[in-house]
Amino acid sequence: KSHPEWHNKKVVVTAGPTQEVIDPVRFLSNRSSGKMGFSLAAEAAARGADVTLVAGPVSLPTPHGVKRMDVVSAEEMYQIVMAQTSHADLIIKAAAVADYRPAETSEKKMKKSNDPLEIKMERTKDILMELGQRKEKTVLVGFAAESNNIKEYALQKLAKKNADVICANSVIEAGHGFQGDTNALTLFFKNGTSADIPLTSKADASRKILDAIAPLMEGVK
Ligand code: PMT
Repeated sequence: KSHPEWHNKKVVVTAGPTQEVIDPVRFLSNRSSGKMGFSLAAEAAARGADVTLVAGPVSLPTPHGVKRMDVVSAEEMYQIVMAQTSHADLIIKAAAVADYRPAETSEKKMKKSNDPLEIKMERTKDILMELGQRKEKTVLVGFAAESNNIKEYALQKLAKKNADVICANSVIEAGHGFQGDTNALTLFFKNGTSADIPLTSKADASRKILDAIAPLMEGVK
């Protein structure tokens, strides 16, 4: 199927985890593989969009026709994404960004002792929230990875972060969310409607997500 309406649309997709450094050998991260974001980037590029993929540390090949920018930390992802926003038609935030990072990074490897270790953590910047605050024409799509109360938490994120769509997925059901090649999602739209995408491949879910977003974008139907 051809999608001339996506041609030259500027799309920014974020994918993968971030890593927050503790010392030269240790970091805090999460289980995101990047597969969901990479398949969304691949699908948008296949439709003719001009796609920038901001990727955390993952071991995935760059999808055909996609411009990839690699980052490590939440702060780096913030800087790169913010620099892209003003000319983006669509931003999809599939990355699992760390919410906290060590307040201090040790330049030397931390030595162990028999005492319990406490690492003080500070909040990272909430990229989606700031995109929502600055938003003018850009269509903003966030994800919500939840273990419980999926609908309630997704609706809270939709409102609080001023997103147009939140794609909610479970992170405890088999075959959903992190790491695998499949996912099941519920999309919550600003106008109060929602749409279910039953368990399917991440590639197929990406087609369905872009089909669902298309009517929100100017010139894309
Ligand atoms: O990468 P895979 O292995 O394929 O797994 C896919 C996925 C489960 C990671 C993906 O489908 C997903 O749900 N991504 C979002 C994970 C997440 O961090 O959810 P959250 O509910 O903690 O965050 C909500 C939204 O805010 C997300 O769009 C996130 O990108 C964004 N966020 C969060 C924190 C932060 N500091 N800045 C942000 O922009």
